Amino acid sequence: MYLYHFGLGELPFTLTPNTSFYLPMAMHDEALAVLSTALQTGEGFIKVIGEVGTGKTLLCRKLLNDIPDHFVTAYIPNPYLNPDELRRAVAVELGVKQAQHISVQLLTQRIQARLLELHSQGHSVVLILDEAQALPEDSLEALRLFTNLETETRKLLQVVLFAQPELDDRLAKTEFRQLRQRITFTYKLRAMNAQEVQQYIHHRLQVAGYKGADLFPVKICQKMAQVSQGIPRLVNILCHKMLMLAYGQGHYTMTAKILKSAVEDTESIEQYSKIKKLTFPFLLIVSVLFLFYYTVVVKS
Ligand SMILES: Nc1ncnc2c1ncn2[C@@H]1O[C@H](COP(=O)(O)OP(=O)(O)O)[C@@H](O)[C@H]1O
Ligand SMILES: [Mg+2]
Repeated sequence: MYLYHFGLGELPFTLTPNTSFYLPMAMHDEALAVLSTALQTGEGFIKVIGEVGTGKTLLCRKLLNDIPDHFVTAYIPNPYLNPDELRRAVAVELGVKQAQHISVQLLTQRIQARLLELHSQGHSVVLILDEAQALPEDSLEALRLFTNLETETRKLLQVVLFAQPELDDRLAKTEFRQLRQRITFTYKLRAMNAQEVQQYIHHRLQVAGYKGADLFPVKICQKMAQVSQGIPRLVNILCHKMLMLAYGQGHYTMTAKILKSAVEDTESIEQYSKIKKLTFPFLLIVSVLFLFYYTVVVKS
């Protein structure tokens, strides 16, 4: 691999959401601040929405790492679970004994008892779901019922949902109006701008131990921002490919040609640029037809 060629200690652009590579960008830090405030004030539901690859799982891990000690967390990374499976998964996470083998009724009682126990010990309990857009509809409802459990002053369970925008489309349905009302805080992750893309690339290289001269020049970072649409995962994929190509060709600085080759080799980006390529001729034809219609039919 290219590690030795560039003097790197580890791979800088892997796809795993590794918190040691975390760059405190404005949007991610803001999201964490919103989560922290909402959790301190005891809100029932909080959600963080972001397109694929914008850093949701990384934020989830940051939250789990950085959350203050008095919080007890239950983490469900893949919530494609029916209500019963969801209830049992939560129970297991909270340390309810024999959660897999008891009846639903007993399970609900035990979860409630465990939440009260944790509450009396001064803990707040947070359920964190990643990929929450994958929750089946009846499980979303089960989740709402969970947060009905409360003392006179505080919810016994708070829920943080990390999800793709599809979740909002689903929640827009009338049957979810009760749940919608419970969601008091929402944060939407946006894409990185060109300056952030540059900082991002630079930061990941530094963390991976890069000490050499400017590997990704400003111009290349600007182009990268365009082709990746500012999506961190796409930046990682392209940068990794570029490093491999540059290594293969014996280069020590990235060029527009290397970026072009990496883009051509990346399906998700190719599809995007094909759509863009098609949009322009389409708009041109529509405009010509409109002009024709206007001058020949309307004016005459
Ligand atoms: N602020 C950031 N700092 C460092 N790496 C980031 C940041 N945001 C996203 N990434 C990286 O981008 C990639 C995609 O992030 P991920 O959390 O898997 O996205 P999602 O879960 O939204 O699909 C991961 O490799 C992650 O480490
Ligand atoms: Mg994810």
